[in-house]
Amino acid sequence: MNRHIPVLLSELLEILNPIEGEDFADLTAGYGGHSEALLEKVGDKGSGYLFDKDSEAVKYLRHKFETNKNINIYQTDFADIDWDTDIPQVDIIIADIGVSSPQLDDTERGFSFKSDARLDMRMNQQQELDAYTVINTYSEKDLADIFYRYGEEHSSRRIAKAIANARKKAPIQSTVELADLIAGSTHNKTGKIHPATKCFQAIRIEVNQELDALEKLLQSAPKHLNAGGRLAIISFHSLEDRMVKQAFNKLCKPEKDEFGQNVSKPEYKSVTKKPIKGSEYDKSNPRARSAKLRVVEKIN
Ligand SMILES: C[S@@+](CC[C@H](N)C(=O)[O-])C[C@H]1O[C@@H](n2cnc3c(N)ncnc32)[C@H](O)[C@@H]1O
Repeated sequence: MNRHIPVLLSELLEILNPIEGEDFADLTAGYGGHSEALLEKVGDKGSGYLFDKDSEAVKYLRHKFETNKNINIYQTDFADIDWDTDIPQVDIIIADIGVSSPQLDDTERGFSFKSDARLDMRMNQQQELDAYTVINTYSEKDLADIFYRYGEEHSSRRIAKAIANARKKAPIQSTVELADLIAGSTHNKTGKIHPATKCFQAIRIEVNQELDALEKLLQSAPKHLNAGGRLAIISFHSLEDRMVKQAFNKLCKPEKDEFGQNVSKPEYKSVTKKPIKGSEYDKSNPRARSAKLRVVEKIN
């Protein structure tokens, strides 16, 4: 059963051009679609290091690749990888950040308001912080800041106030309860997306500390590429894409001294001048619509 359709797969393979014998790390291996395709290209002489923090995904990956000796699977947050000891230098690093289809579709994971479930949203089922805790214990101000910063939600204060008032009577328990509360407290009822979509994205980012993890990845991963190695990141919203763009631009610029003179040549070059975008017409994979792929290469 294919539980998750990998986004931008052919584009990723074309731009990374994996060759036989190369080693790769997939930091968000999920249901193994990207890894499987990379493995096919690098063959028996290449190795894959697969990470995911979701125990369901890791269970699936272990089963999927159980007969393959060249695949190493870790249930780890990519923010916690000890790059000096956990894996060797590799030729390809990919990260397809965001949520998998099973996370969104399995009702009890509490990511979506399409069906009613306890507020959860944890990618790592073992962590303590969940959406219930965020919604019922964070201050009104902190909630407003999260909705504004991570959801770019303009009614952030009004929504946070409605939540703070509602939870005085009883804790807010479920996804649909929260979505209805948000919809009832905002004027934005005519847009293309449900009025709770941006806040749900913001809560998910907070629960999973997604931007902190991406920041750590952008700092450590490039250094662990072999010469000629490529780092590819697929992101799904503008906050992440901005972080990737800025970090890659910085990597590809020469270092300057205090007089503005170049003191060293850049160690990396950009492979995607502009991000490669997922198709908004991809009916088989609606997640692809907001996907953006950027790639940087370590110069020989
Ligand atoms: C979009 S899916 C990846 C799908 C995968 N490329 C495939 O082809 O099946 C994103 C995955 O990244 C995982 N993930 C997100 N943030 C993570 C992090 N900081 N550390 C480890 N895994 C993470 C999620 O649990 C999810 O399984």
